[in-house]
Amino acid sequence: MSDKPVFVTQPYLPPLEEFLPYLEQIWANKILTNGGVMHQQLEKELCAYLGVEHIALFNNGTIALLTALQALRVAGEVITTPYSFVATSHSLLWNGIKPVFVDIDPYTLNLDPIKIEAAITPQTTAIMPVHCYGNPCAVESIQKIADNYNLRVIYDAAHAFGVEDVGGSILRHGDLSVLSFHATKVFNTFEGGAIICPDAKTKQRINHLKNFGFVDEVTVVAPGINGKMSEVNAAFGLLQLKHIDLALARRREIDRVYREGIRGMKGISLVEGVGQATANYSYFPILVEADYPISRDELYLQLKKKDIYARRYFYPLISEFPMYRGMQSAQCNNLPVANEVAKKVLCLPIYPDLSKDELDRIIDALKVE
Ligand SMILES: Cc1ncc(COP(=O)(O)O)c(C=O)c1O
Repeated sequence: MSDKPVFVTQPYLPPLEEFLPYLEQIWANKILTNGGVMHQQLEKELCAYLGVEHIALFNNGTIALLTALQALRVAGEVITTPYSFVATSHSLLWNGIKPVFVDIDPYTLNLDPIKIEAAITPQTTAIMPVHCYGNPCAVESIQKIADNYNLRVIYDAAHAFGVEDVGGSILRHGDLSVLSFHATKVFNTFEGGAIICPDAKTKQRINHLKNFGFVDEVTVVAPGINGKMSEVNAAFGLLQLKHIDLALARRREIDRVYREGIRGMKGISLVEGVGQATANYSYFPILVEADYPISRDELYLQLKKKDIYARRYFYPLISEFPMYRGMQSAQCNNLPVANEVAKKVLCLPIYPDLSKDELDRIIDALKVE
């Protein structure tokens, strides 16, 4: 059995020689960014692959989140989840918006729709839910609340590449959805991201915003930002797309082996997919319960000693970081479920190149007496 370190994730890299022709084309074109051919081609291919109408590529998911909020002129207060990566609520602070944290559902670990209405105030303008681990949010209940109160919905769909519900892509819900193509994600462009939007007009506004607000050589219509994806990143995305089905199939198999190996282990609960017709197996979270022989943190350290680097996603909660913890909605008693889950969760390694040996080693290491 190999004993080399196993990290929580490892980026999927197609063979280097397959990337070289793309680079040669970029060298020949001498167009490196600003919506070049690779960029245009990737937008087209991603729309087809994801089953969406309009996509605007970005240099990363965080700038895409900032721009999505700008595009809809969201202000005031936005309801969001504390159980996510910090970029979700940081994007609100960067726009001068006050995040209002609402607790999560104990099964999906996504924003609990039953608790949203109580957090709405006259200042609330939008909801920013996260499809955490690629598990779909309660999209219909959230939309109903948004419609009743005339709120916008921007999904942080950073984990949800390729996820579908029975009606199609999960990315079609809400006003906008934002993807991350960071190196750690199921589909990566080294760094990258995208906004999925419902119509050409919104996409045009987003395109202006991601290019400093420029409409043409001499006209600037908004205080935009530089959110453009470069040609090298877009080219890598085109190559990744050729391999994505294989990568997802491998993840599905790893997820199956984990579930088979872990189900029935006393004190470990699995997070079940809810509502997706097609999952992407982007993470493998387990919950270490009180009847497991050791605590979550002891297990985390024990795995580390065996060179298995699991991660406590999402701990600490966003609401625990200094720029948030003074807020009323960040208090522990407002977020009992999120606080409980953050103490129990551990994400196990999952990535296409994880070997059978490594998987067995991880499952064995969970068998603690
Ligand atoms: C839920 C979530 N939102 C936002 C981001 C930010 O994306 P990026 O790293 O591409 O800026 C990430 C990941 O990094 C994420 O996991």
